[in-house]
Amino acid sequence: MTTILRLQDLAAQGQLAGKRVFIRADLNVPLDKSGNITEDTRVRASVPAIRLALDAGAAVMVTSHLGRPTEGEFKPEDSLAPVARRLGELLGREVPLVANWVDGVDVEPGQVVLLENCRLNKGEKKNSEELAKKLAALCDVFAHDAFGTAHRAEATTYGIAQYARVACAGPLLAAEIEAIDKALAAPKRPLVAIVAGSKVSTKLTILQSLARNVDGLIVGGGIANTFMLAAGLKIGKSLAEPDLVNEAKATIEALKARGAEVPIPVDVVTAKAFAADAPATVKAATDVADDDLILDIGPKTAAILADKLKSAGTIVWNGPVGVFEFDAFAKGTETIARAIADSPAFSIAGGGDTLAAIAKYGIEKDVGYISTGGGAFLEVLEGKTLPAFEILAKRARG
Ligand code: 3PG
Repeated sequence: MTTILRLQDLAAQGQLAGKRVFIRADLNVPLDKSGNITEDTRVRASVPAIRLALDAGAAVMVTSHLGRPTEGEFKPEDSLAPVARRLGELLGREVPLVANWVDGVDVEPGQVVLLENCRLNKGEKKNSEELAKKLAALCDVFAHDAFGTAHRAEATTYGIAQYARVACAGPLLAAEIEAIDKALAAPKRPLVAIVAGSKVSTKLTILQSLARNVDGLIVGGGIANTFMLAAGLKIGKSLAEPDLVNEAKATIEALKARGAEVPIPVDVVTAKAFAADAPATVKAATDVADDDLILDIGPKTAAILADKLKSAGTIVWNGPVGVFEFDAFAKGTETIARAIADSPAFSIAGGGDTLAAIAKYGIEKDVGYISTGGGAFLEVLEGKTLPAFEILAKRARG
């Protein structure tokens, strides 16, 4: 973090008073058919940066994308209007929504405005230089606070950072960078990662990247089934990718060569159908029948994994290990969640399903850091340097 300028530092040095501050937030929240926000974590997470800039005496402009609209074609459902209302409630003041703002924004020190969906601007997606320069001209200070969009090099996430007089990280982005560094760049060991989900193919680069760093790699869901095949076990009709067994074997070998391991389930919970009311059977991993579906790890496996998590120094969690939406197949994920909560390890978690599991078991306060990023968090786990981090570091070097 020392290599990136931070909004907090600029505020503390009195460098924001009277200045025009442009904050790129990620306010891309789910809306229902009537346009109501169904989950507002990202709006709440954007508040500290806005308050910081306001309290420091800045004139504050905030923008975000919402969905993936067609540039230049405004449709009411693409509007940030519901976000402006929610932000207003959270800040305790009206937040005016400004449309057609690229060529100029009226805002005074002590005021905040929300600039309409930035993906409506022509050139946003392709990071047009012309647009980026116009955006940069709107402000004295650009603050990137949109970790969820930090993996995109667009005009409001990258180009503006190139051309703005000052480019810095907002408190949310800074906290995400710090948590990621703590977990992956300088972890307290043992470092244990949990990577679960339906397909090895969508997380293969993550598995390969983590295999070079972690001391233990816990796999779950359909990914674990493919690893069970790689270990010579039968998985019946369970979801798996037999084509990727060799990749799974290579991952196991890569870890072994470093003295690390991928624990393979010793028992599982199976059903004959994928349904919430399907009778659940616990059996040894060696006893899976041809017509079985594996829908969760078994209690012995869960206990073994929980032990590893309790003695870990750092835990990275992405993905539930079973079909936790169905109570009969949720115990594995619950055991893992509670073990993470009880562990003295620093833990970082991210991804939609993972956040849903954290909320279901009410362990939000016991996880070291919960990332607001979806795709961005996955790209970090892949070992990629996100464009936002790259350009802010470059600007800080001068
Ligand atoms: C997300 O929801 O993951 C971010 O807001 C990024 O959205 P995008 O995938 O449309 O760029």
